[in-house]
Amino acid sequence: MSNIGVVYTGPGKVEVQKIDDPKLHGPDGRKLEHAVILKVISTNICGSDQHMVRGRTTAQPGLVLGHEITGEIVEVGSDVEMLSVGDVVSVPFNVACGRCRCCREGDTGVCLTVNPERAGGAYGYVDMGGWIGGQARYVMVPYADFNLLKFPDRDRAMEKIRDLTMLSDILPTGFHGALQAGVGVGSIVYVAGAGPVGMAAAASARILGAAVVMVGDFNKERLAHAEKVGFTPVDLSKSDNLPEMIAEITGAPEVDAAIDAVGFEARGHSGGEQPAIVLNQMMEITRVAGGIGIPGLYVTEDPGAEDKAAQTGNLSMRFGLGWAKAQTFHTGQTPVLRYNRQLMQAILHDRLPIADIVNATIIPLDEAPQGYASFDSGVAKKFVLDPHGLLAS
Ligand SMILES: NC(=O)c1ccc[n+]([C@@H]2O[C@H](COP(=O)([O-])OP(=O)(O)OC[C@H]3O[C@@H](n4cnc5c(N)ncnc54)[C@H](O)[C@@H]3O)[C@@H](O)[C@H]2O)c1
Ligand SMILES: [Zn+2]
Ligand SMILES: [Zn+2]
Repeated sequence: MSNIGVVYTGPGKVEVQKIDDPKLHGPDGRKLEHAVILKVISTNICGSDQHMVRGRTTAQPGLVLGHEITGEIVEVGSDVEMLSVGDVVSVPFNVACGRCRCCREGDTGVCLTVNPERAGGAYGYVDMGGWIGGQARYVMVPYADFNLLKFPDRDRAMEKIRDLTMLSDILPTGFHGALQAGVGVGSIVYVAGAGPVGMAAAASARILGAAVVMVGDFNKERLAHAEKVGFTPVDLSKSDNLPEMIAEITGAPEVDAAIDAVGFEARGHSGGEQPAIVLNQMMEITRVAGGIGIPGLYVTEDPGAEDKAAQTGNLSMRFGLGWAKAQTFHTGQTPVLRYNRQLMQAILHDRLPIADIVNATIIPLDEAPQGYASFDSGVAKKFVLDPHGLLAS
């Protein structure tokens, strides 16, 4: 196979290196007859990868990155019953067994068996079970019958691949955030963060029927892109009075639903990091009994945090405000399997042009280091790696 992959080599650095060819074996060396090997068709760079590459997690050098994977099956284990060589599939970023209590209840983001350290597994991610990442030419996927979503038609899938590649994470993640925040017909919605997850949340709010979808950020290029694809930008660099800015747009200083697509590396108005600022702002602007969806990532260890408490994930949240307003909060890894089929149909039937909304930008696998650097600089793009040159053509 002659595999190569994107390897984290230390804070601020990734390299494309030779890596082992995948085998039907788990991180603990066990043979996995329920697994398949994929030839990777597309694999995206994510804001979640950036937390590791910026040195803001306990990820160790040598980690092969990549949890957003779409591919073609090239080998199947003997226990795989519903998939065959040649199938084109989307891989949920969650590794899930399909057998434990959480998986059986649809909470595949916190599978109980695939990670000895804690609930929840993922490919190419720190503390997520040691499953090898898929920013590579080839990758192994366990519990394949349970995890994989097969595209109904190969040619149609390749036509729509820039959109379908977003099913492995950010589109279901944005959709989950919107649903958990209670977005429905006529909702007034604020999305914090105009990165790819924020744009996917905004697109989800729109397809769920929201009346107004505002997207807040400091990044002017991203705000301009958000406006271009039909959302209402909120330029946080102009004022630190978010309720007032919302009132200027909608006539009232509050929203029905708020979605945090920023996470723990949130910036405050003064420019420095303020890990709880988005959470506090959302409690402030969300109406009484409104909903707050939190796909943005929060960590239990942040060795790079500016203040001491935040280094162990302790944030200064004004939780009493949320309590007093009887708001609902929903956090955690997205259970991608719950949504990817319906979102695939929305894409295949031209209802959800997610690639344009996130400005999907295809680059060769070899250019991953430049892609990481460019994404980190805050361009309004979602980078899609093309390991075999199948998308370029
Ligand atoms: N829950 C999940 O399963 C899941 C899945 C995918 C990604 N994520 C997380 O979602 C978050 C967003 O991902 P992304 O790829 O869009 O990342 P990104 O880093 O590209 O985007 C984050 C954006 O937030 C902006 N921002 C910073 N402070 C802000 C503030 N106070 N208010 C508003 N905007 C602010 C930044 O300028 C940036 O544009 C990350 O934390 C990522 O780890 C979670
Ligand atoms: Zn991701
Ligand atoms: Zn499980």
